[in-house]
Amino acid sequence: MPNVAIVGFGFMGAMHLQVYAQIKGSKVVAVVDNQLAKAKRDLAKLQLKIPVFASLEEMLAVCAVDIIDICLPTKLHTPFFLKAIAAGKHVFCEKPLALTAADGRRIAAAAKKSGVYVQIGQCIRFWPEYQALEAFVKSRKAGKLLSLSLQRRAGRPGYSVGDWLNDGTLSGGAALDLHIHDTDYVHHLLGKPAAVTSAGTRDKTGWSHIFTTYHFPAVAVTAEGGWNYPGKWGFQMAFQAVFERGAVEFDSGGSPTLWLTLANGKKEPMPFTAPAAGESTTGAGNLSSLGGYYNEIATFINCIERRSAPKIATVSQAADSLATTLAEIQSAATGRTVKLK
Ligand SMILES: NC(=O)c1ccc[n+]([C@@H]2O[C@H](COP(=O)([O-])OP(=O)(O)OC[C@H]3O[C@@H](n4cnc5c(N)ncnc54)[C@H](O)[C@@H]3O)[C@@H](O)[C@H]2O)c1
Repeated sequence: MPNVAIVGFGFMGAMHLQVYAQIKGSKVVAVVDNQLAKAKRDLAKLQLKIPVFASLEEMLAVCAVDIIDICLPTKLHTPFFLKAIAAGKHVFCEKPLALTAADGRRIAAAAKKSGVYVQIGQCIRFWPEYQALEAFVKSRKAGKLLSLSLQRRAGRPGYSVGDWLNDGTLSGGAALDLHIHDTDYVHHLLGKPAAVTSAGTRDKTGWSHIFTTYHFPAVAVTAEGGWNYPGKWGFQMAFQAVFERGAVEFDSGGSPTLWLTLANGKKEPMPFTAPAAGESTTGAGNLSSLGGYYNEIATFINCIERRSAPKIATVSQAADSLATTLAEIQSAATGRTVKLK
């Protein structure tokens, strides 16, 4: 059973901990957070007794861990990732992989050389409704996919520790932190686009809203991602996929969330498989469903137990999604289409 250390115990660290608690094949044996008192308080709220350390080095000196799970502010991903693989540990690291394409490539190269297993938290590849769309596209039940439009919208995030999310130099703004989920899903479903054309809103917190057209030869694809909706607006992720003989629509705020309309015009809830992982009980962040997070972490643990490298949300896939998202930001900044290599 692999032993896990969660590094960074804020919104996502607590999400991951609640997921590991439901996976029989893993055990969280340590938490690392430089805000010791807060981390201890938050663990107590979850009624868990796990040793807390103020630094990765202190934890590594006394704990036998197999996996380091990095849930730190994005700017810290690169140094902590490199330290974790240098210590010979398997790594699960939250998205975005890094803030720059060069750091993304550096991490991917170091991970490949090290031989440890690595997976990145590009969780939309594992999100039940998005998995259902992927299966439906592959099934060709309604013919070819003609167009895909994706949205990820939120009120201004107010939950990050020290408000790092609203500092574009630490988070990359909504374009990099939030919208990358849809860029990564586009890569997963359709491959890398030839080019991107974007427009967006930039404010003192960075790129807080972005709209992108992804250039593919035979399918029209757009995505919108922004967190500059008014404070208490909430959170929505959604997509609309139009096929030759039907449409699949998802809205995280809907009940049910996923709908299928076939050529006869009849609109019906579309079945999909979701794990019985429940909801986060911490009340932090903009999402509480644990389903996609459960799927991604269960997959990672399974890969480690089978001694087989992860194939979905790999570090090189995450580096590619990062590079495309940065190209979108470049396009929005320059007003020009950016070709992707
Ligand atoms: N996959 C998703 O859906 C999703 C959702 C939200 C956030 N994220 C990503 O997860 C990561 C963490 O985001 P979050 O929302 O949990 O942030 P957060 O601010 O809630 O938590 C970050 C934690 O890291 C700790 N920390 C900061 N510097 C540290 C250091 N030097 N050493 C040890 N601990 C330190 C903080 O005290 C805090 O507890 C980010 O990369 C973010 O983009 C992913």
